[in-house]
Amino acid sequence: MADKRSFLVVGGDSLVGGSTVRALKARGHEVHASTRRPDTLEPGRVLVDFEKEETYRAPDGVDYAFVIAAATNYERCETDPMAKVINVELIPRLVASLLDQGLFVTFISTNSVFGGERPWPHEDDAHTPGIAYAQQKADGEREVLRLTNELGARDRLNITRLTKIMDSDTPPLPNWLASWNRGETITPFADLIFAPMSVRFVGDALATIGEKRVPGNLHLSGADNVSYVDFAQALARHLGYGASVVEPTTSTAKGVHIAFKPTYSGLGMTRTRDLTGLEPQSLDALIRDLFPAGHG
Ligand SMILES: NC(=O)c1ccc[n+]([C@@H]2O[C@H](COP(=O)([O-])OP(=O)(O)OC[C@H]3O[C@@H](n4cnc5c(N)ncnc54)[C@H](OP(=O)(O)O)[C@@H]3O)[C@@H](O)[C@H]2O)c1
Repeated sequence: MADKRSFLVVGGDSLVGGSTVRALKARGHEVHASTRRPDTLEPGRVLVDFEKEETYRAPDGVDYAFVIAAATNYERCETDPMAKVINVELIPRLVASLLDQGLFVTFISTNSVFGGERPWPHEDDAHTPGIAYAQQKADGEREVLRLTNELGARDRLNITRLTKIMDSDTPPLPNWLASWNRGETITPFADLIFAPMSVRFVGDALATIGEKRVPGNLHLSGADNVSYVDFAQALARHLGYGASVVEPTTSTAKGVHIAFKPTYSGLGMTRTRDLTGLEPQSLDALIRDLFPAGHG
């Protein structure tokens, strides 16, 4: 194991944050997980609400922060002006404040900044965001870099972009499993592409990045661009169901509007692999992670 260190995880209750906290603790590190709910405070949890004006001071001894919290809801990013303020002003300001306190910072971003029409974008490729959420994360990255340059702290910052993250209770999985349990089929979309990773894989990979303290742009990705039909068929096989439990359809055929419909979702990991040794997660490894016991 690397030396025991002390980490701050901003957004400790988020999907990604929770799994990062678990991975860091499992490696023996001290972790301060942030919440903005005072009634949930206990040892190891700290209060951070970046919508409040005061500057946040990291706990003594912490020398690395993961800034994971964000306004993540696509519809909110389209309609609520506060989402843009959070993603483009308040979070970059928090990153700058943590850098100014001498910490190393990982700022979490998303594959959607690349727009989805380029296969396996490199860590240092230019952004081409489409939807409001992607635009805000791209603008947030740019603002983080501007403030980091002002502080002369580029050697203590990485921007780590992620593809879609799944847990066993991420929609639509609970509905799929319930349908199969009832002996019914499911109708996943063949025209919805993603490169999913398990929440455990992401938490563990972020812990590795935190231990290695690599600056610059990094990517964590599933190894394959797959449709929800591909994913459903692989999951059905793993759980011991026949191929007939999956009836492919498309969002177009069903008249379902989907805000972000990329042609390609996977991120290139060339630089990340070279500097950290991390590899993309295969579809089979993801499914085994989500349902280790297989059927039942
Ligand atoms: N999930 C994915 O598939 C995915 C894919 C690519 C990139 N990402 C990126 O990964 C990061 C985490 O995503 P997620 O899906 O895990 O997030 P999430 O579950 O939606 O959680 C968002 C977190 O942000 C916190 N937050 C919101 N406003 C805050 C404020 N004013 N002060 C402090 N905390 C605040 C929330 O706190 P509360 O718990 O108090 O509400 C929550 O913990 C984001 O940066 C996202 O862009 C996620």
